[in-house]
Formats: sequence, C-alpha cells, structure tokens
Amino acid sequence: MRIGIVGCGFIGTTIGGALEQMEEIEVINLFDLDFEATVGLSSRLSKSVVFRSTELELLIDASDLVIEAASHTAVIDIVPKVVERGKDVMILSVGALVDDDLWNRIRDLARENCSRVYIPSGAVSGIDGIISASMADVDCVTLTVRKPPKGLSLPPELHHLSEDLRDPKEPIVLFEGNARDAVRLFPKNVNVAATVSLAGIGFDRTKVKIIADPNVQRNVQRIDMRGRFGEMQVQMENHPSTSNPRTSYMAPLSAISVIRKIVSGISIGN
Ligand SMILES: NC(=O)c1ccc[n+]([C@@H]2O[C@H](COP(=O)([O-])OP(=O)(O)OC[C@H]3O[C@@H](n4cnc5c(N)ncnc54)[C@H](O)[C@@H]3O)[C@@H](O)[C@H]2O)c1
Repeated sequence: MRIGIVGCGFIGTTIGGALEQMEEIEVINLFDLDFEATVGLSSRLSKSVVFRSTELELLIDASDLVIEAASHTAVIDIVPKVVERGKDVMILSVGALVDDDLWNRIRDLARENCSRVYIPSGAVSGIDGIISASMADVDCVTLTVRKPPKGLSLPPELHHLSEDLRDPKEPIVLFEGNARDAVRLFPKNVNVAATVSLAGIGFDRTKVKIIADPNVQRNVQRIDMRGRFGEMQVQMENHPSTSNPRTSYMAPLSAISVIRKIVSGISIGN
C-alpha cells in the first residue's frame, strides 16, 4: 500500500515512523507547505518520497491513502481533490468539518468515486460507544475539555482573558455552548469536539465546556452521554506531545491504529 502524508509536523512524523515499520506499506509520500519539514521527515524514513508544494496532484496520484495531518485549510483545499480522484483519505484536522457544505461535498464526492473517508478517534476515547449508542435515541452528549493554560490559544473574542491566562491560580471556564461554536472559536484545540459531534448527535446538539486549568498537567477530556442505551462517562488524561503542546500523543496513535486495521483487514470494535 502507498500512503501519502500531508503535514510533516508532530502527527505526520509519528505516523511516518510507524509506517516505516509496517511491511504492508511500500511507499510513504511526503508533502508539507514547509519544504524543510518534508525533507526533515524524509531523512528519517527509508521508504519516503518527497513532493514539493507545487506537486500535490502528483502525491495524490502516487498514493492509495492520503493522510491529512496539517490544518483546517488543508482539509478544505486538499481533501476534495483526493476523493474526487477516487483515492482514500484520512482526516485529522476534523474541526474543519464543522462547515456542513464542505462535509457534504466530501461525502458526495467519496460516494461518487468509491473513496473511503477515515476519521480516527484522535485524542478522544469512547467514540465506539457514542457511535453505537447513536443508533437509538440520545438525550445528551457533553464534552468537557480541561487543558493546561499554556496549551490553549485564545480566539480574538476572548483576548481580554490573555492576562488572566498567563498564571491563573484557579480554573477558568473559557467556553460553554454547543460544539459548532466551540470548534469555530477554538479550531486548534477542539478537533475532539468535532469528532464527538460527527460520531453522535451533531454539532448543534453536542454540548462543550472548555476550561483552562492550572491544576492539570495533561489534556483531560470527559464525555458524559445519556440515551436509550443507558449512561456513559469516559475520561481521558492525555500527555501533550513534546513538540506541539496543543496535540495529544494519543492523536497519532489513533491514526496508526486505523491504518493497522486497514492493512490487516481485522477490525475490532463497533
Ligand atoms: N483529530 C484529533 O484528535 C487531533 C488531535 C490533535 C491535532 N489534530 C490536528 O492535526 C493537525 C496536525 O497536528 P500536528 O500536531 O501534527 O501539527 P504541527 O503544527 O506539528 O504540524 C502541522 C504541519 O502541517 C503543515 N501544514 C499546514 N498547513 C498545510 C497545508 N495546507 N498543506 C501542507 N502542509 C501544511 C505545517 O507546515 C506543519 O509542518 C492539526 O490541524 C491539528 O489541529 C487533530
């Protein structure tokens, strides 16, 4: 299998390292707007091929599965091109899918061109339970995210809190509302809110609370769900990555596990 990685940052690098060890993977095609990042990752991977920022179409043609691990803009610009060429795609910057038109377009193109779209659980756990439970009536899904203050970047609307966030003594609730608004305001921090929404009852009904908490060292996510199935509480305490404190180490691990599922043909869960 030939894999394309778009985005050679923390997630792309961690996935690349795992693919290098999988014998089913023949080629790892690399692409990043920052050519130095592409070359840097390539120097560690013997199966890699480097593509320049003008060679996106070539990378897509040379890959069976393209993994987006870059940015919301990359999802908008690149994912439709991948699925319209009949290639499979994995999306990590899931928050971009808050745009209903984009998500519908990707789904329509995938259906028309027999492409598969993979959205890994990423940094959040319990997605299997949310998907199963959503096959019947669901009353509510609430995601509570607690992060160390330095792992959060504030939207312009909340810049007045910048000083308070510098060295807070108490937790500060930065946001309480639906997932649609949470993803718009904190696009770099709440991909998990998007994944939970897509797996369950959608962006408008999923509730989100975001807390900057000086008492936590890790990214803590808790999901509370109630419905016809019963009740579920799931809590994750994720180590942030060393190179990008906004990203949890669990995010690339989840993507790697999906690739393993694809190449092995064995699917456990759901
Ligand atoms: N699904 C999840 O649970 C989850 C968890 C953490 C992060 N993420 C998302 O995954 C993405 C990657 O995270 P990361 O920690 O590896 O980030 P990172 O900043 O370490 O690396 C991102 C890389 O992508 C490149 N890039 C940005 N836009 C690009 C584009 N349009 N085309 C090509 N390359 C581009 C950058 O130059 C950079 O090298 C981010 O969007 C992040 O929000 C998702």
